[in-house]
Amino acid sequence: MDNKLIVAQKIKAALPDLSVEEITDLLEIPKNAAMGDLAFPAFSLAKLLRKAPQMIASDLAKKIDSSKFEKIEAVGPYVNFFLNKKDISQAVLTEVVAKGDDYASQNLGQGRKVAIDMSSPNIAKPFSIGHLRSTVIGDSLARIFEKMGYQSVKINHLGDWGKQFGMLIVAYKKWGNSEAVTANPINELLKLYVRINAEAQEHPELDEEARDWFRKLEANDPEALELWQWFRDESLVEFNRLYDELGVSFDSYNGEAFYNDKMDEVVELLQEKNLLQESQGAQVVNLEKYGIEHPALIKKSDGATLYITRDLAAALYRKRTYNFAKAIYVVGNEQAAHFKQLKAVLKEMGYDWSDQITHVPFGLVTKEGKKLSTRKGNVILLEPTIAEAIKRAEDQIDSKNPDLANKQAVAHAVGVGAIKFYDLKTDRLNGYDFDLEAMVSFEGETGPYVQYAYARIQSILRKANFTPNTSGNYQLDDAESWEIIRLIQDFPRYISRAAHDFEPSIIAKFAINLAQAFNKYYAHKRILDDSPERNSRLALSYATGLVLKEALRLLGVDAPKEM
Ligand code: ARG
Repeated sequence: MDNKLIVAQKIKAALPDLSVEEITDLLEIPKNAAMGDLAFPAFSLAKLLRKAPQMIASDLAKKIDSSKFEKIEAVGPYVNFFLNKKDISQAVLTEVVAKGDDYASQNLGQGRKVAIDMSSPNIAKPFSIGHLRSTVIGDSLARIFEKMGYQSVKINHLGDWGKQFGMLIVAYKKWGNSEAVTANPINELLKLYVRINAEAQEHPELDEEARDWFRKLEANDPEALELWQWFRDESLVEFNRLYDELGVSFDSYNGEAFYNDKMDEVVELLQEKNLLQESQGAQVVNLEKYGIEHPALIKKSDGATLYITRDLAAALYRKRTYNFAKAIYVVGNEQAAHFKQLKAVLKEMGYDWSDQITHVPFGLVTKEGKKLSTRKGNVILLEPTIAEAIKRAEDQIDSKNPDLANKQAVAHAVGVGAIKFYDLKTDRLNGYDFDLEAMVSFEGETGPYVQYAYARIQSILRKANFTPNTSGNYQLDDAESWEIIRLIQDFPRYISRAAHDFEPSIIAKFAINLAQAFNKYYAHKRILDDSPERNSRLALSYATGLVLKEALRLLGVDAPKEM
């Protein structure tokens, strides 16, 4: 049970004027452990009880039943509560042992669905570091929501439609070569795309040709469709290789093209609801009353639909198909205006469920402090970068533990985990500098540091041949174990906060704190020594390992048993 609730119920018995909720809200966690585990400030009661806060505090301290506490003490206007560490460590460790991997699972979601729009790279374009962030954050949020009792639906809203496909078709027909595309699809298609854009500067007729081809594509012309399908398939082969490396999967690859035949309905609905206005030949929805200056452009003067038109169709489709309780879009902050428009248009259309939509933005990644730019050659190529991370992990394992079995698999878990963890430990909205050396380091606030703490615990448990038991005596009351117990006890609350704020960094920071607390404990206590506490110490190690592994799992990071 929650410590605040235990204390609040005791206070309530001595102070019937306030409700348990009011008391819980007032309770503070003192910064200094000498002031107890929880403190109740009496200031706000002075008026109600017509007494000085100091008096109220000392009266309360005497009145409250202290049998379940180490002590209860009035200090000035505060009543300080020192919890019974032995009782709580017993209760917490027993609960972890009994629940195993289900420890901290919750049922807030009651099986309802969360649709997560994530990754969503553009066909025939390189997978950017922004898409990597979206993939990693989206995957972690899916896991966190599952832990909260929701069902996640991971949707890869591929950028597989738009005028650029007209450009690509023209370029391919002029200069393309099918072997080159098959051998190295994205690189080759990108070259064609760059070339046609450059040449179109001087030969505007190319733009006209591209528009024609895109029109053909929209009209299901077989040749256009076949080329488009081929570009898409080849690009997906490359993307899927990356997803396999990252260990991320999707429930749907319905991208923009999927909504081609679903946009007429959107336009009709907007017409019916009288929301479309003409502006320079185009159809727009005015959103001024939402404080949005730019109207949403739904249909261009030549009849072409737009990114937001497809997103409107997608939102309608997802609501019908999944009946989501929440729909989140993990997309860079630079698209904030787009998602504001999307929500506002849906609201204008009268859909209350537009309130269930959240754009979950994230910040930019830099390299050596500079913005990434394909044009300026400041790029991070993901596949070679991941390979490099794995190699660095392997080098460190070679020097620490040269005889390790499954070295390749462990190096993979450490290298890939390092990149993910570094991304996820950052407050989502902040960017970070892509520094492979810092990411893969075994020291500092890194994935490998947490994984190493987990592996160390497994080695201790193996040496002791320890099997946990729900009727074991697991009482501890030293300061170092108390820090660990408190973290483990709060794990469910960290998870619900992470879900509420769409913020995996809360879990990553928690994992670092727990690993650090355990390493401190390990430095102070000889866990394996013969001592009456030996079994409790092993149970504490076991519970720490279990929670560390679960925290890493929620981030999509594997925890090798040895490294
Ligand atoms: N393909 C887009 C891009 O790379 C991201 C799509 C995000 N999802 C969405 N439903 N708009 O910028």
